[in-house]
Amino acid sequence: MNVELKIFRFDPAKDERPYYRTFEVEAEPMDRLLDCLNRIRWEQDSTLSFRMSCAHGICGSDGMRINGICGLACQKLVKDFKDEILIEPLPVFKVIKDLVVDLDPFFEKYNSIKPYLITKNPPPDQERKQSPGEHHQFEDALRCILCACCTAACPINQNKETEAYVGPAALVRAFRYLFDSRDEGKDERIALLDHKDGAWGCQTLWKCTEVCPKEIPITKQIAQIKRGIYDSKHSK
Ligand code: FES
Repeated sequence: MNVELKIFRFDPAKDERPYYRTFEVEAEPMDRLLDCLNRIRWEQDSTLSFRMSCAHGICGSDGMRINGICGLACQKLVKDFKDEILIEPLPVFKVIKDLVVDLDPFFEKYNSIKPYLITKNPPPDQERKQSPGEHHQFEDALRCILCACCTAACPINQNKETEAYVGPAALVRAFRYLFDSRDEGKDERIALLDHKDGAWGCQTLWKCTEVCPKEIPITKQIAQIKRGIYDSKHSK
């Protein structure tokens, strides 16, 4: 079958403004959109820029907007689309070239929530132990591959007035440590999250959950963070 992909193009080094170019590629129904993009780059236009690595939904590098919805090109099958397929870079972020966006602000926000285990007590002789039940508390959040689809799809992050909002991906990681029984930085974490651009920036619009390629219940986890903040303040 032939597939038409209308792709956002922009090279700031030579283009005055972005434009779209349509490519036609031959594909099998079970091919992924990433296969089509690769075919275009190999056979028709080697200047087409996009990120990819694993091609199996693990690395999170090929997040893009496909027919208006953020997702991974390696997880979308040709057979699930009809007509021309519109491929654009993730919104929210500055375009570096074509489908490649600048994710530095995304990782700055991610780093702001201290995405690592905080411990105060010296380590035990062996590992810091945890029961299966304690691990289960945050297991879903471990699936996050930092593809940025959730943050790009979030209307709060898309709004210039509220773009300082730390965003769903950072909050998923905050959740992962806040509810980890081995973490000893709860007060520190809560101070980082308890403000209008932290957990309270979320207006429960569910867009992050809708697009998450790893099916993480992001909105519910943010609600649990809010509940955790409330409980910790009212238990003192
Ligand atoms: S290329 Fe790695 S997640 Fe798609």
